[in-house]
Amino acid sequence: MSTGTSGGLLDNHDQHAQSVFKHEILRQYIKRFISMLGKTSKGNQVAILDGFAGRGRYPDGREGSAEFILKAAFDLAATRRVTSFFVEKNPEHFRSLQRVVREYTARGLDAHALHGSVQDHLNMVVRAADQIPLFLFLDPCGAVLPFEQLVAVLSGPRRHERPQTELLLNFSADLSRRVAGALEKGHTGQRVMDQTCGGTWWRDLAIEVRRSSTTQSFQEVADAIVTEYARRLAEATGMYSALAPVRKRLHHQPIYHMVFFTRSPYGLWVFGDAIGKAKVKWLQHLGRLEDDPVTDNVLFPLEEAFKSIIRNQERQAQKIVTENIKRLLQELGSFKVVTKTAEIFGDAYGTATESTVYRVLRELKKNNELAVIKDAPRLREQVIGLPY
Ligand SMILES: C[S@@+](CC[C@H](N)C(=O)[O-])C[C@H]1O[C@@H](n2cnc3c(N)ncnc32)[C@H](O)[C@@H]1O
Repeated sequence: MSTGTSGGLLDNHDQHAQSVFKHEILRQYIKRFISMLGKTSKGNQVAILDGFAGRGRYPDGREGSAEFILKAAFDLAATRRVTSFFVEKNPEHFRSLQRVVREYTARGLDAHALHGSVQDHLNMVVRAADQIPLFLFLDPCGAVLPFEQLVAVLSGPRRHERPQTELLLNFSADLSRRVAGALEKGHTGQRVMDQTCGGTWWRDLAIEVRRSSTTQSFQEVADAIVTEYARRLAEATGMYSALAPVRKRLHHQPIYHMVFFTRSPYGLWVFGDAIGKAKVKWLQHLGRLEDDPVTDNVLFPLEEAFKSIIRNQERQAQKIVTENIKRLLQELGSFKVVTKTAEIFGDAYGTATESTVYRVLRELKKNNELAVIKDAPRLREQVIGLPY
């Protein structure tokens, strides 16, 4: 059990570090989704589905995913019209969710709390989002929706680049470890995992990874499964994917991965920035806990240790981004920055933020290592090239 500081405040609020990271990703991303995509959409409308919504707000008053979404919609209500759907199966959680949603509908938002299984409401939501951008947030405790159902939606009615569709889902590493462990013991009845993954490929992958693994842990299996899952879903739906591992503590195995899908390099860019910022917030949160010593030096306060980790991480991210941009300039001569999001962030995706990339671009320009070929107010819109 955590022995949080701040007068026990963190404990009382049961603010698990993994939720800090997940909610900060959502908080960072959702506002920009509404604002950016609602700028040019029909009637400035966007639709959002929170498919495993939970209570909306925790008993201690902290926001759950639903309230993060409702707050973002409310903050932007003057210029954007958000229709949001929140689905929850558990009756007690649903009653709490309904109360939270009603607070916001009373303030004029178009928001709907729906009882039951997300599977049963998905088609209605897709119909309601006809011609407008749609953001799907799926955050189950265990298995996410069957692969085929996601593919049917994303490569069916939502297959076009516009109106945009984006998906952020929670893929449980605990579940992957558990089913792979059971498989190794000779149990073969993991049908839920077959459905989630869209086939039995994960079984062969798990066996292969375990065979070549030198550790007792099933973490390599969990990583391999989620990576292949993201690749397959992206391929089947014509989308880009990005992964963010979510841990409870710095040196723990991930509890789950947040997996993001988009058809837009802008989506990848903004999501990369969101997870980079969320990681800093998570590290700051860990620095305020007392149960995760990252250093043997007891004279070095924990908060300082985490500040130093954050600084090192930023330095490392800047180094990686610098090398990536220099290599791209050599290879391509010139390019529009945002179109090369995956290549620019590279291994720093998850730690670098937009500010990291902008700092590198300014530094390279100052050192005459790049030239701006086509200027734009935002650096990510600029076309950059090698200086003459
Ligand atoms: C991890 S919790 C959600 C947490 C919430 N998204 C948040 O961040 O505050 C998962 C929730 O999904 C609900 N649930 C489980 N299966 C479901 C289903 N098929 N459809 C809708 N809700 C479901 C559970 O009752 C639980 O409240």
